Amino acid sequence: MSPEPRGGARPGRVLTLATADATREFGVRLGRVLHAGDLVVLTGGLGAGKTTLAQGLGEGLGVRGPVTSPTFVIARVHPSLVGGPPLVHVDAYRLGGALELDDLDLDESLEQSVTVVEWGHGVVERLSGDRLEVVLRNVPSGDEVDAEAAGDDTERTATLGAVGQRWSTVEAQAVLDAVAQPSAAAG
Ligand SMILES: Nc1ncnc2c1ncn2[C@@H]1O[C@H](COP(=O)(O)OP(=O)(O)OP(=O)(O)O)[C@@H](O)[C@H]1O
Ligand SMILES: [Mg+2]
Repeated sequence: MSPEPRGGARPGRVLTLATADATREFGVRLGRVLHAGDLVVLTGGLGAGKTTLAQGLGEGLGVRGPVTSPTFVIARVHPSLVGGPPLVHVDAYRLGGALELDDLDLDESLEQSVTVVEWGHGVVERLSGDRLEVVLRNVPSGDEVDAEAAGDDTERTATLGAVGQRWSTVEAQAVLDAVAQPSAAAG
């Protein structure tokens, strides 16, 4: 028998994302499998592709766009065009911390929405014990993306991790495996 994985974070699935379109497509695949109540935390340096991924999520969910980099707003609600849950897109970059996060009343909308939080690591954990965590890194340095190069396609890797009961079933794990494999989901 293979050993039962222990509770908490499960081992991540690593994807190679050669272009911004590949990052968006990953978001589309992920968006298609998300349900109301799901929380996705996006981590990565400036220009890593978090908003690009969130745009794909919006597309996969079928919500009204455009999903943009919120400059002045911290959270934006994108209603569904297909009778599904809305996408709540949060940019926590300017949030002072957990207290300001509380001010957004996200837990009010969490159950009914799919919530995606850029820069959410370290602040959203209190919102839900169940979440997906996507870490975007550039290749090869693994560090923050060079802002000057950000406009051109440069390879990223994404690590897709899942935390909590929601993602612990065999079925949910299989869904995440499929999302992490572009060839299997293509067409
Ligand atoms: N493989 C890639 N994946 C994603 N974006 C890429 C890739 N290659 C190049 N890019 C470019 O990098 C930029 C990523 O911008 P994006 O706004 O998605 O990043 P971000 O992580 O949300 O930034 P911020 O930290 O400012 O919120 C875009 O201009 C996009 O076209
Ligand atoms: Mg962004």
